[in-house]
Formats: sequence, C-alpha cells, structure tokens
Amino acid sequence: MATLSQQTFAAADAQSAVPVLKTDRLILRAPGPQDAAAMVRLLADRRIAINTPRIPYPYGVDDAHQFLASTNRLDGEATFVVTLDAAPIGVCAVEPREDGPEIGYWLGVSHWGQGYATEAVRALIDHAFGDVAHETLQAGARVSNPASRRVLEKCGFQWTGVRLARIRAINSAAPTDRYRLDRRLWLSLRSWSCAERVA
Ligand SMILES: CC(C)(COP(=O)(O)OP(=O)(O)OC[C@H]1O[C@@H](n2cnc3c(N)ncnc32)[C@H](O)[C@@H]1OP(=O)(O)O)[C@@H](O)C(=O)NCCC(=O)NCCS
Repeated sequence: MATLSQQTFAAADAQSAVPVLKTDRLILRAPGPQDAAAMVRLLADRRIAINTPRIPYPYGVDDAHQFLASTNRLDGEATFVVTLDAAPIGVCAVEPREDGPEIGYWLGVSHWGQGYATEAVRALIDHAFGDVAHETLQAGARVSNPASRRVLEKCGFQWTGVRLARIRAINSAAPTDRYRLDRRLWLSLRSWSCAERVA
C-alpha cells in the first residue's frame, strides 16, 4: 500500500525464513519460544479465539509452546509476531491452503481501534505479493466481526461470498464472509497517487 513505509531486512532471523518487516509503528518478526508468555496473556480474552479458526480457548502455555514450535514450517507459510516498542501485541500470517494462500491476524484487545491491524496486514500483503510473488490472497471474517471486515476492505480485499467456517473456540461452524485480493489490484492500489490541487 502506498502509505506504508516498510523495509524488509533480509535473513534477520536465523530461526526462520521469514524476514523482519518494519512499518511506521510496528515491527513484524518471526515468532520464537520467548513469545509464549505474551501469547498466553494476549489470548486470555475470548473475543480473539472466537473470531479465528484454530485458536483454542482457554489458551494455556502448552498451546503457546505448540504454536510457537510449529510456525513457519510449511512451504509458503509466513507467520509473524506483531510487535510495538519491542513487545508482542498480536500475530499475522499467510498460510498455504488447498484453494490458495490465506491471511489471518489478531491483536490483543487493549491494542484494538488504533489502526495497528490495518498497518500490520498491509505489511503482510506487501510481503506476500512483493517478496514471495503470490498471485492471490484470500481471507475470511465472521459475519459478526465488522472490525475484521473493515481491515480487509481498507487493505483492498474484495468480498466474494459467505461460507461456513469451523471455529475451534466455539466448537462449531459460523458464517464467514470471504474476501480476495489479487496481485493486479494490489499493484494498482500501490500506484494510485492523488491529483495535486494546483488552483
Ligand atoms: C479484527 C482486529 C484484528 C482489528 O484490529 P484493529 O487494530 O482494531 O483494526 P484497525 O484499527 O486497523 O481497523 C479496525 C476498523 O474497524 C472499524 N470497526 C471497529 N469496530 C467496528 C464495528 N463494531 N462496526 C464497524 N466498524 C468497526 C474501526 O472503526 C476501523 O475502521 P476505520 O479505520 O475505518 O475507522 C481485532 O479486532 C482482533 O484481533 N479481533 C479478534 C481476532 C480477529 O477478528 N481476527 C480477524 C479474523 S482472522
């Protein structure tokens, strides 16, 4: 996205193939075992798990260790811890799926409403299209989750329909809006500069 001041520091994390991404306010980096306590603290609020497909609730330290040990192991996966002033505030990821790469994201509740998710997701998208050369990205948001839908719309995603998605924390399926962003639209959005008023 045009407003993003993002730098990629290649191979900054020896544990993982994912780079470190810097935005105006955030740094996105590979997760590590040191993040377990922060994951448990951030995921203590049920509102995060019930809006994501696979996060268990309640969320314990074993869940955190399992998550942190299993990230960035799949071909095409790029999972980042989102940090603010070096402290973890959430996670965002591109994950390979049968029907194409899909993004996911969450932030600790005390960090909602300040534009951080949009900023992190834009960095994730720039990485997915700019560094990895994906052709399309997909995303989903529960129909009851307007904040997540808004993040996707602000990042250029287009609505493609509704389908049921399994939500682990509620042990059930829930209607989910589906979204898609393709490389050509992303390129178009990045190159869109506003006219300058001259008189
Ligand atoms: C979805 C989530 C990541 C948003 O994080 P955030 O940092 O608050 O998002 P941003 O501030 O970048 O943008 C939120 C937008 O939604 C809007 N919004 C928030 N609550 C809303 C509501 N109830 N109705 C309509 N819009 C709403 C905000 O006004 C903002 O839009 P704006 O910039 O046009 O004003 C966060 O709420 C979260 O972690 N939720 C739980 C997990 C989740 O839903 N993950 C996504 C699905 S994988």
